[in-house]
Amino acid sequence: MDTAKVEEVVGDFVALRRRGVNMIGLCPFHNEKTPSFTVSPSKNLWKCFGCGKGGKPVHFIMEHEQLSYPDALRWLAKKYHIEIKEREMTDEEKREESIRESLFIINQFALQHFNETLHESEEGKAIGLNYFRHRGLRDETIKKFCLGYSLERRDSFAQKAVKAGYNPELIAKTGVCYSTDDGRLQDRFWGRVIFPVHTISGKIVAFGGRILQNNAKAAKYVNSPESEIYHKSDHLYGLYFSKQAIMQKDRCILVEGYLDVISMHQAGIQNVVASSGTSLTTGQIKLIHRFTDNVTLLYDGDKAGIKASIRGIDMLLEEGMNINVVLLPEGEDPDSYSQTHSTEEVEQYIERNKVDFIRFKTNLLLNEVGEDPIRRAELIGDVVKSIAVVPNEILRSEYIKKCSEMLNTSEQLLVKEVAKLRKQKAEEMQKKPTAVANADENDSNDTGTNGAPVINEFQQSIISSYSNPLHHKERAIIEFLLKNGSKILQVPEDKISNTPAFTETVASHLYYSFNDDGIELSHPLYKRMFAETGEHINDPNFVPENHFMAHPDAEISSLTAELCSEQHILGKENTEPSDERNEQAVMFEQTTRLAIAYKLSIVDDMLKNTMNRLKDPATASDPAALQEAMEDFKFLKETQGALNEVLKSYGFGNVAMNV
Ligand code: CTP
Ligand code: MN
Repeated sequence: MDTAKVEEVVGDFVALRRRGVNMIGLCPFHNEKTPSFTVSPSKNLWKCFGCGKGGKPVHFIMEHEQLSYPDALRWLAKKYHIEIKEREMTDEEKREESIRESLFIINQFALQHFNETLHESEEGKAIGLNYFRHRGLRDETIKKFCLGYSLERRDSFAQKAVKAGYNPELIAKTGVCYSTDDGRLQDRFWGRVIFPVHTISGKIVAFGGRILQNNAKAAKYVNSPESEIYHKSDHLYGLYFSKQAIMQKDRCILVEGYLDVISMHQAGIQNVVASSGTSLTTGQIKLIHRFTDNVTLLYDGDKAGIKASIRGIDMLLEEGMNINVVLLPEGEDPDSYSQTHSTEEVEQYIERNKVDFIRFKTNLLLNEVGEDPIRRAELIGDVVKSIAVVPNEILRSEYIKKCSEMLNTSEQLLVKEVAKLRKQKAEEMQKKPTAVANADENDSNDTGTNGAPVINEFQQSIISSYSNPLHHKERAIIEFLLKNGSKILQVPEDKISNTPAFTETVASHLYYSFNDDGIELSHPLYKRMFAETGEHINDPNFVPENHFMAHPDAEISSLTAELCSEQHILGKENTEPSDERNEQAVMFEQTTRLAIAYKLSIVDDMLKNTMNRLKDPATASDPAALQEAMEDFKFLKETQGALNEVLKSYGFGNVAMNV
């Protein structure tokens, strides 16, 4: 962490120039024309005042290369020639790790073989290279995407790999070769041109092999099978080459095939990836979402494939992505279109023809349905379903407005339908709290026995939108903990319980003031950080900012970096009062206000809840329930009063607080 100099690490990717003690440049994480990306060599921090990202050099690498925290450290270690001593792995871990590593090594070896074959062998040049050139690819493009060729002979790679000392079993595990029934090792991709599939960080996980003559009997593409390192649903073809452009353009263009991606890149449009023929998976959507909220689907002019993929696209909406669709002219695909038009023409075509997804879907269905009123009603239901999953309220109401025009239906009716669906989902979800916890393991396409979707991300997003005001306060608490946790505060004397004044750290005071009341933060990440603070609370060397900044969990370390880098770069940390006693009193006041404000907002939520129970006719007709609700109400009112009393007793006034 000390060796990696922020200006050197960032400087590898961003052109920086001096401005005073800092350096500035154009932010690589969002599109900007005037630099708001600031690097502070003296503090060893970076911060973009445009998009808010910031942190230590390691966080820059995590963000830029999309690596985990440990992998980003390895990346830096390599740059600075530092040897990393990794934790001793268990034998089982070692075995698995070494298998995975071997598979990557063999894939890399295979890639080299296919490249050499393409560029150096007679057969490769005559058949493979010729084919690519025929498809309009320039040599630099062929090189960039590491395209290759696999000879006609059925075992040329198998032979070579075994001879080079690779274990036949592992070779077969990569899927580049397979074992025949009589135990011979054969090449999977013989006689095909090769498209290697890169991971997000550039390792080779799989290959696709295209046949050269279109032949009804053989499959056009043969792909690597799933393996210990390759889970098809977690990869997108081209992402390694396009992640930078996707971030910069803040948009991902999604196409169907290998050649679509490659030709678009060659045409100068680089924010393009392919789902490779299958419908999108949740894993792939999450992958895109790491880089952008905006997706453009670029489809062939013929509408055959479109209907099938619509279902997958509702998932993009649920993830909160903005999606639009562009149809190419009849008979064109992204490959053919980008090869026959200039960069500007392609960009212009996309810009002029993009239609937001909801409108696109509505149109598509409208064309099918015609005037039949029953089918029209079904169609409205279908469109409403898509709108209802959109997490953003403003977007939802815009979609509703548009669709009411297109469908010639009253806006109010649609608003009501959407609200009904959302309410239904929210209720379903409250009844099944345990299912929410397992949402990750559920494929969001799963449907329950009654045909209704099992808890999915849409429903989760409702939960979090309900609890968001609370999350906001919790974020402020965590920010305070990070910035001030190791400072000392003084708790004044308490005459009632006869406790003399004493000092402790802000972290400790904050932690116990929640822990004593049995309060946990609701946001899972903040909750974890708070619990971890508890584990270290008696450690005199515990500095929350340092501890969490170097945390192995990337989410935690990035959040810390984000919350702390700004004040450091702006030098805000030096503005506290210099009088020590005074500072301890100020810290106590701020900590207390923060904690009590949070507790009051919890009580407030519970009060609202109880009011609703009291108003509910079901409660009114059940004396026991009514009694209970009234007691809860009384208790909460008392608690509210008591919390306000505490503030008053310290002379902090009442609670319209500025936290
Ligand atoms: N695909 C596949 N197996 C097949 C057919 C298609 O895996 N038998 C995948 C490939 O990833 C392919 C994508 O689906 O790139 C799109 O298919 P298609 O449009 O048929 O192929 P193109 O990539 O357009 O290839 P070409 O232009 O050479 O026909
Ligand atoms: Mn094609």
